[in-house]
Amino acid sequence: MSNLTAVVLAAGQGTRMKSALSKVLHPIAGRPLVYYPIRAALDAGAVRVIVVVSPSSRAAIDEYVAREFGDQVVRTAVQDVPRGTGDAARVGLEAVDEERVLILCGDTPLLVGSDLRALVSALSAEPKLELALMTCIVSDPKGYGRILRTSEGKVSAIREERDLAHDAERAVREINAGVYAARTLALRSALGKIRPSNAQGEYYLTDTVAIAAQGGGALAVLGDPRALVGVNDRTQLCQAEDVLFARIAQRHGKQGVTVRGGARIDDSVSIEPDAIIEAGVFLRGATKVGRGARIDAGSVVTDSTIAENAVIKPYSVIVSSQVGAAAQIGPFAHLRPGSEIDEEAHVGNFVETKQTRLRRGAKANHLSYLGDGDVGEKANVGAGTIFCNYDGFQKHRTVIGAGAFIGSDSQLVAPVTVGENAYVATGTTVTQDVPADALALARVRQENKAGYATRLRDRLKAAAQRFKEAQGKQ
Ligand code: UD1
Ligand code: CA
Repeated sequence: MSNLTAVVLAAGQGTRMKSALSKVLHPIAGRPLVYYPIRAALDAGAVRVIVVVSPSSRAAIDEYVAREFGDQVVRTAVQDVPRGTGDAARVGLEAVDEERVLILCGDTPLLVGSDLRALVSALSAEPKLELALMTCIVSDPKGYGRILRTSEGKVSAIREERDLAHDAERAVREINAGVYAARTLALRSALGKIRPSNAQGEYYLTDTVAIAAQGGGALAVLGDPRALVGVNDRTQLCQAEDVLFARIAQRHGKQGVTVRGGARIDDSVSIEPDAIIEAGVFLRGATKVGRGARIDAGSVVTDSTIAENAVIKPYSVIVSSQVGAAAQIGPFAHLRPGSEIDEEAHVGNFVETKQTRLRRGAKANHLSYLGDGDVGEKANVGAGTIFCNYDGFQKHRTVIGAGAFIGSDSQLVAPVTVGENAYVATGTTVTQDVPADALALARVRQENKAGYATRLRDRLKAAAQRFKEAQGKQ
């Protein structure tokens, strides 16, 4: 279908979003709103997509579409003044050379390629046909353009809500979804004929339907009403997003991934078969989950890679990090950007890492802060260990050799290196490098005073009694 292009109309004001950000750039399931109609058009066989934008939103939309799709595939065209959908389509068509064109809106994220393919097939099936449009039967048609038909049942025109002539038109429940496939030359010619002689004083794209009907013909194709869901405000954005999340979960389900209720997985996330995603999990951005991995309840993973058979226990937060095969994280772990947890390494509860690598089989299982470090293979970092990486001005690195043992409640004052198989005694503040195989011990020696506990208790009791008596005299 190399002779198909799409025009996405996105130059409306979007005022109901009440936002400085252009409406179609608002994120929904991890991608800007406008991504979805563009994707649908490309999936339906469009070789190029022209997005019609307003002058104020052009720069931002241009930058996004070029980055995401490449400027050979998706480009913008500017509608200087929002004179209506007909004018927007005309602007878009100026950049179209292909024989057939799809027209759709930038704010309908639930529309998919198969919806559009049905229109393109209908158009292609009849050589004379000038236009095919998607319609839906709805219980409440208010606000939509109504489909008018001749006594033989052929589509004759679309009447906009504000221009309805009488109750019979108002009662029509077949409405215009705002999605069209057309022959480019015929549509261009029809757009040259429309006039803004209507209640809104706008150029209506919908007026080309009557022109096509009187020419080669216009055909209505009944579509899924979900394709209608247009995003105009924040509430609608969230409602549409819920539908997208449900679809994405279903897509992964079909590919052998268990996704339990309420997991919210961005469209941009990839997951291999046999992975298990529990309820209440968020997988965001460029996250990748490997085969057999398990992400347990309430975890939030952003722009990170979780390798095969890794286990992310409940309520862990992972950002821009790598988790190796069969590694275990959490519960309640926080991997901040640049954490690399290699195969079979463990990061346990209330452990925070940042720009730190735990090599194969290393463990930090409890209550630690490991910032700017490198922990060697099979090293063990005890409970309550802190990498003191910041002196108030600069960050410094802590390096721990393979097989080293860091006793609980130790502080490593960076920059510092602990050699291979070295042993840091519990409660040590490490301020100098520790050679391989050495024991580092830096704590006050313990002294036991025999029988002292009883004497101490008597003394404290007497003091408390004197205090009470003094209070009573006042
Ligand atoms: C339009 C249809 C209506 C249909 C409905 C389905 C017309 C006249 N009416 O109405 O029959 O039932 O969609 O949702 O087409 N836009 C521009 N430039 C403009 C005006 C609009 O780019 O000057 C864009 C908007 O950003 C939006 C799309 O066109 O993405 C549709 O415009 P909108 O004003 O929402 O049309 P509706 O009144 O909903
Ligand atoms: Ca609309």
